[in-house]
Amino acid sequence: MEVVIVAGAEAVADAGASIVATQVAAVPDSTLGLATGSSPLGVYRSLIERHRNGDLSFLLCEAVMLDEYVGLPPDHAQAYRTVIRRDLIDSIDLPLDRLHSPDVAAADVAASCTRYDALVRSLGVDIQLLGIGSDGHLAFNEPGSSLASSTRIKTLTDRTRADNARFFDDLDEVPRHVITQGLGTIMEAAHLVLLATGSAKAAPIAAAVEGPVSAMCPASVLQFHPHVTVIVDEAAASQLQLTDYYCETLAHKPSWQRH
Ligand code: GLP
Repeated sequence: MEVVIVAGAEAVADAGASIVATQVAAVPDSTLGLATGSSPLGVYRSLIERHRNGDLSFLLCEAVMLDEYVGLPPDHAQAYRTVIRRDLIDSIDLPLDRLHSPDVAAADVAASCTRYDALVRSLGVDIQLLGIGSDGHLAFNEPGSSLASSTRIKTLTDRTRADNARFFDDLDEVPRHVITQGLGTIMEAAHLVLLATGSAKAAPIAAAVEGPVSAMCPASVLQFHPHVTVIVDEAAASQLQLTDYYCETLAHKPSWQRH
């Protein structure tokens, strides 16, 4: 696991966007795994800017989303497919029919989950962007999630619903159920990029990066992945124990070492 500690949110965004841009430049038909939430927004802004400058095209890419609320109408402002279109897709040249997300309206939800899981695995995600929940969740894999799980329906914890209530008018409007890629699905991606900023993320980042691997902190499963980049600002890094080592490693990173 490579831990990249940078000064602030802008540097986190730039480092994350550079990883995506390098991937797409090298492999124009890459499959990109997109996350929602506040954490990747700076990366998306930077990718849009690079696209507008003519430096980056997503024309041949596929994109897969991590998760979706169950019970919101598809055009709801907070439905994750709507959110990702607003925050990224509608401002770049990725064809809309190549944006894949869980079908939460299917009559047979279990079959829809199985289909989506198979689609994500068959596309083969090259880079998966990730945020982390305050309770250590990845996508919507709440504490207690199987570390080997596939795409399925999950019930949100009160804490996650309260955290996400800021996007809704009222806590009661936050759905209780979601479809989420499983931890086992996410772990199939070739490169996982976890983004976090601010002191509220310091404890979950420390638990995920340096704590014991446990379903109580779903993001700790990343310790089993061979290619993870954790990009954090100083506030989100503030509870890490090996900060000096991570900085030393980055400062002396050989040019031949992969991103
Ligand atoms: C939601 C999303 C996660 C995201 C998390 C943290 O629960 N399903 O993918 O990582 O929120 O969000 P934020 O980045 O806004 O802190």
